[in-house]
Amino acid sequence: MNVVVYPGSFDPFTLGHLDILARSALLYDKVYVGVLNNSMKRHAFSPEERKIFVKAVCDSEGIQNVEVLAFDGLLVEFARTCGAKALIRGLRTASDFVYEAQMFAANRHLAPDIETVYLAANPALSFISSGLVREIGAFGGNIDGLVPDAIKNTIAERLLKR
Ligand code: PNS
Repeated sequence: MNVVVYPGSFDPFTLGHLDILARSALLYDKVYVGVLNNSMKRHAFSPEERKIFVKAVCDSEGIQNVEVLAFDGLLVEFARTCGAKALIRGLRTASDFVYEAQMFAANRHLAPDIETVYLAANPALSFISSGLVREIGAFGGNIDGLVPDAIKNTIAERLLKR
């Protein structure tokens, strides 16, 4: 079975994330979404909330070959526990590339046998980031078209209450 890990903070999960996840689910037999649970990073949404968001979106989109897990520690160790030989990352901009190149080098240093596969973002979605969603949502702005419909209202309410 061809297994891949799609890791991220997903704080929160966006339409850009959904695009990468849906395309990965077509390429691989099984996709493990790894939701970062790292006490060193401050997140707007708890790991449990972020997991629930991804699961709700997979249910509403009918994407069945996905399992959503929280992880802490090293990503490559998480990938091993999933039985994955590859990681998926989305690429939007040149600045993503710089960040990803460093992460690739670190992961390759730690685990040369684990490959990283990059999917170019859908151009129509490449301006979307979780940070943008958090900022717009915090000021009560419209997050339609930025996050999946299935989780839009919950995210908007939560961001306003922070
Ligand atoms: O969505 P993000 O925040 O860009 O995802 C970053 C993530 C979770 C992939 C990265 O922070 C990560 O892999 N963290 C786990 C710790 C780790 O393995 N670090 C070494 C490689 S950078």
